[in-house]
Amino acid sequence: MSEPLLEVADLHATLVGGYRRLDLLNGVAFTLDRGEALGLVGESGSGKSLTTRAITRMLAKGFRVRGEIRFDGESVLQMNRSRLRQYRANDVGMIFQDPRAHVNPVHTVGDFLTEVLVRERGAHRDEAERRAVQLLDEVGVRHPERRLRQYPHELSGGLLQRVMIASVLLAEPRLILADEPTTALDVTAQSDVMAILDEQRRARGLALLFITHDLELANACCDRLAVMYAGEIVEQGAHVYDAPTHPYTKELLGARPSIEQRLDRLPVLEYNLELHQELKARITP
Ligand SMILES: Nc1ncnc2c1ncn2[C@@H]1O[C@H](COP(=O)(O)OP(=O)(O)OP(=O)(O)O)[C@@H](O)[C@H]1O
Ligand SMILES: [Mg+2]
Repeated sequence: MSEPLLEVADLHATLVGGYRRLDLLNGVAFTLDRGEALGLVGESGSGKSLTTRAITRMLAKGFRVRGEIRFDGESVLQMNRSRLRQYRANDVGMIFQDPRAHVNPVHTVGDFLTEVLVRERGAHRDEAERRAVQLLDEVGVRHPERRLRQYPHELSGGLLQRVMIASVLLAEPRLILADEPTTALDVTAQSDVMAILDEQRRARGLALLFITHDLELANACCDRLAVMYAGEIVEQGAHVYDAPTHPYTKELLGARPSIEQRLDRLPVLEYNLELHQELKARITP
């Protein structure tokens, strides 16, 4: 059996400041195989974004990280600066909730798209532009040549997110980390953008770590789901959506507003930290 593309084991992240210590990731563990998609779900504040930031070593200063993160067998926490830079530029692609926060507003779409190829790979500008046009076309952006001359503010959120997907694909990574990539978009753009991301990553055999609040969507796009609570994964696998076993997962799935059954208000989950600690104490004596 070959080793996984990404392996996260016993990952802890603690924020240390003054006299306070906050344990925000408490032993996160999962693996991701080549070409596999894992959906990471769980309530707000459970540590999903911190997990993706830890994978790319982009946690803010003040965080102490321990545990293991291996990419294709190589320890990410041990990478030196130049290897880390390469890893971020070539091996992993990141797509975030708000594409506007991740582009330079005074650079054209063309500059943004070709920058990595020109700077990191030494590609010729014309060749990089040709590739960018081709990829924009593949992610369904019409008039790609014209788009290259435009600035981010001239594009809608949905279009800009497609540009982001194209920029990630241009770098030909093996893993995509997508942190709520469609949450900030309007409803029609949401399904279009998700369909493109799903289609492109399958066609290229890329692994995906997909963070979302939408359990149905996660289930539809991913091979497995991992459920986070209070900085750890409480349950994961291909069974999670149809046959959850952990009490938190059961509640989370039970709380979904369904189309058939209209609710006047969203149910409040009863699972809480106290219960969580008690359960853990019972499992790990
Ligand atoms: N730089 C920081 N300083 C202090 N606390 C932080 C920092 N970054 C994250 N946290 C805290 O860590 C916890 C986990 O945050 P994280 O952003 O990973 O949650 P999340 O699961 O992505 O939530 P959401 O679904 O709302 O995006 C939260 O309680 C958050 O307040
Ligand atoms: Mg988040």
